[in-house]
Amino acid sequence: MVTSDAVRAYSQRAAEYADALGRIEHAVPDDREFVRSWAGTVVGPIIDVGCGPGQWTDFLRTHGAEIEGLDPVAAFIESAQSHYPSSRYRVGRAQGLEVKDGSLGGILAWYSLIHVDPSSIDESFAEFARALKPGGSLLLGFFDGESGEPFEHAVVTAYFWSPQTLAERLKLHGFNVVKTVRREAQGARPHAAIVAVKTRETYSSARSVSTCCESLTPAYRQGLVTVWEG
Ligand SMILES: C[S@@+](CC[C@H](N)C(=O)[O-])C[C@H]1O[C@@H](n2cnc3c(N)ncnc32)[C@H](O)[C@@H]1O
Repeated sequence: MVTSDAVRAYSQRAAEYADALGRIEHAVPDDREFVRSWAGTVVGPIIDVGCGPGQWTDFLRTHGAEIEGLDPVAAFIESAQSHYPSSRYRVGRAQGLEVKDGSLGGILAWYSLIHVDPSSIDESFAEFARALKPGGSLLLGFFDGESGEPFEHAVVTAYFWSPQTLAERLKLHGFNVVKTVRREAQGARPHAAIVAVKTRETYSSARSVSTCCESLTPAYRQGLVTVWEG
């Protein structure tokens, strides 16, 4: 496996990161509801790519998802296995999921591609497209900004993306973006998430995803921007 700067940096600070952010209660309630609702639309197995401490994997498993967490940092996988023994985790990376073609119903990549050099993001998207079945769904969480602009993340350099650029890049790999949400809080970097469905036959999937945010609070919904395509 390629050892990137991000893997080296997280390997040194995995325990610290897990203490600070490794429980699902650390995520804002509306993010929890959004991700949980998305998982409820997925048919088939999900991989939580870049699962870190494993809290999202375990959270979604407890809500009925068939899910496995995957991360290139062995210390995260050991921590996840010890804190969430009922969930499944393994070492791996976005660029090589080691699953059969078309075998996944969903991929969650929650802030896990933020450290990938923008010039090589297509490698991950091509792998996601290979691993997802037609109609399979990808949920990406990221920091919203000028695409490719680096910033000093607390652990290691990360990169902003605009939802529009990501949608264009994903389209090249056969994905249609069916939902975009943004969240801004004073003093924090803007957050965004997109749901993209593999293949252009997205009508029925898009309809089911459209129901996923009804239970979000009004404040969060105010920050939502929905992009419908296809
Ligand atoms: C900001 S953390 C997010 C962790 C987790 N998804 C969460 O929400 O707490 C970024 C994660 O991406 C992982 N990561 C870095 N490079 C990766 C790669 N090439 N493939 C998959 N995950 C990667 C890191 O090890 C780390 O766990």
